Amino acid sequence: MEYFTTTSKASRRAADCVIVGVYERGKLSTGAADIDGASKGAIKRHLKSGDISGNLGRCTVLTDVDGVRATRVAVVGLGKISEFGASRYRQAVTAALQAVSQSKSRQVLNALTLESVDGTDAYYLARHTAQAVGDTLYRFTAMKSGRKTPAMPLKKVGLSLAKRGDAARALRGAEHGDAIVEGMSLARELGNLPANICTPSYLARTAQKLARENKNLQTRVLNEAEMKRLGMHSLLSVTAGTKEPARLIVMQYKGKAGQKPIVLVGKGVTFDSGGISLKPGPGMDEMKFDMCGAASVIGTIAAIAKLKLPINVNVVVPAVENLPSGVATKPGDIVKSMSGQTIEILNTDAEGRLILCDALTYSRRFKPDTIIDVATLTGACVIALGHHRTAVMSTNDNLANEIVSAGISAEDRGWHMPLAEEYASQLKSNFADLANVGGREGGAVTAGCFLGKFAEGMNWAHLDIAGTAWKSGKLKGATGRPVPMLTEMLLARCGALP
Ligand code: BES
Ligand code: MN
Ligand code: ZN
Repeated sequence: MEYFTTTSKASRRAADCVIVGVYERGKLSTGAADIDGASKGAIKRHLKSGDISGNLGRCTVLTDVDGVRATRVAVVGLGKISEFGASRYRQAVTAALQAVSQSKSRQVLNALTLESVDGTDAYYLARHTAQAVGDTLYRFTAMKSGRKTPAMPLKKVGLSLAKRGDAARALRGAEHGDAIVEGMSLARELGNLPANICTPSYLARTAQKLARENKNLQTRVLNEAEMKRLGMHSLLSVTAGTKEPARLIVMQYKGKAGQKPIVLVGKGVTFDSGGISLKPGPGMDEMKFDMCGAASVIGTIAAIAKLKLPINVNVVVPAVENLPSGVATKPGDIVKSMSGQTIEILNTDAEGRLILCDALTYSRRFKPDTIIDVATLTGACVIALGHHRTAVMSTNDNLANEIVSAGISAEDRGWHMPLAEEYASQLKSNFADLANVGGREGGAVTAGCFLGKFAEGMNWAHLDIAGTAWKSGKLKGATGRPVPMLTEMLLARCGALP
C-alpha cells in the first residue's frame, strides 16, 4: 500500500473518500469540524436527523457534500471522548474502511490521525491505520474457484497531520505497519490453508521461497533421518502415525554482524487430531490452525527482513502432523528427547510440547540472546484468558514485561502468567524423567513448565496463543497474531522505534 501525509484541511484535499469522526454527545473530530464548516453544517444536520451517531464503530458514508473536494465523507462514531484510545482508534478506522470498501474508492484520506489519542503519537496512529487497512483488505480466496474480486481497489492512503514536522514519524509508522500487515497476511494465509495443502513440506517450501526473495534470509530444512541422527525422538514420536513427512525448518535473518540472535520457535502441527488420544469430532477441523505458532514466527521474520532491521533473528519450526494409526505413538510410551530427558507420553494429544522441547534443545546451537516459543499449546489457556490475551510465561520477569509492553504498544496484547516450581511438580512420572501432561488444573502453566525443563540456562519465554491465533464461528479464520507483538519487540530491541 502507498501512504502519504498531508497538512491540508480535510475539506480541501481531493480524494475518493475522507474519513472523519464524531464522538458521543455530538462532539466533532478535527476533520469533521472542518468539513462541517466548509459544508455549512452538513455533519451537524445529519447528526440531528440521526443518520450519523457517535456510537463507536457506526459509520455513515455521505456523498456530494457541499464545499468538500473529496467525493465521499465517511463519518464514523468514536464513542466517549474520555475513552478514546489506540484500540478504539483502530476499531474506528477499521469500521470506516469497511463501510468505504462497498464503494470503488482508490484513494482514501484518513483525517482521524488529527485526533489526540491517549498514549500514542503520529508514528503509532499511522501504524494502526496500516493495520486497519490490512484487516480490511485481507480475504482468503486461495481455495475458492471462480472470479476472485479484491475486497476493495484501494491503492493510496493519506494521513492528515497538524504539523509538517510529524511527517517522518508518520511515514515510518506506515512503513512498519505495512511490513507487519505483510507478515500477518502470510501468517493468516498459512493458517487458513487446509491441512491437506499446508503440510510440513508446504511450510518448508514457503520458508525456502522467502529466503530466495530476501538476500539476508537463509532457510535450511532437516528431514526425519537428520532429526533421528540428532536424537529428536520426542518430536519424531508425534509424526509416527502419519505418512506425511515431518520437517525441521530453520531460518536465519542476519542484519547485524557479531550479535547473538533472538530465536523464535513456532509450533507447526499442521493438523492435530490428538493421535491415539483422539479429539472429539465437533470442531476438529479447527486443528488445521495448530501451526499458527509456526506461521506467526515465519510472518515475523518476513516482516523483519522486509524492513531490513539491524538485528539477528532465527526461526526454528518443528513441523509435523499428529494422526492415529497402527504405528502411532500410544499412551504410556516413553521416548528419549534430544536433551537426554525421558518423557512418558500419557496423552498423545499433548503433542505440541513434545515437538517444541526438541526444537528448544536444537536451538541451543545458536547461543541465543533470547529465545521465545510461540504455540497454540493448550485449551486451558483459552479457558484462562479467552480470545483477547496471549499468555506470556517466562522464568525471567524482565523478559515477560518486555513482551507484555510490546503487546500494549502494538495493540496485540498479552498477559503475564506464573511459571513456578509448584506447578512443575504436577509433571512427575513414575516411569520416566517427566510426564507430558500435568492434569487439568493450571494446564496452560504446566505446559509452560514442561517446556521450561528444556530451556534451562536460556533467556526464554513461552507464548500460548491458543486463544488468540484464530477466530471460530462466523468469522472463522486465522488472525495473524502475535506478529504485531513480536515485531514490536524486535523493533524496540534494535532501536528502530522513534
Ligand atoms: N492444539 C491443542 C491445543 C488447543 C486446543 C488449542 C483447543 C486451541 C484450542 C493441543 O495440542 C492440545 O491438544 N492440548 C491438550 C493438552 C492436554 C491433553 C494436556 C488440551 O489442551 O486439551
Ligand atoms: Mn493436541
Ligand atoms: Zn496441538
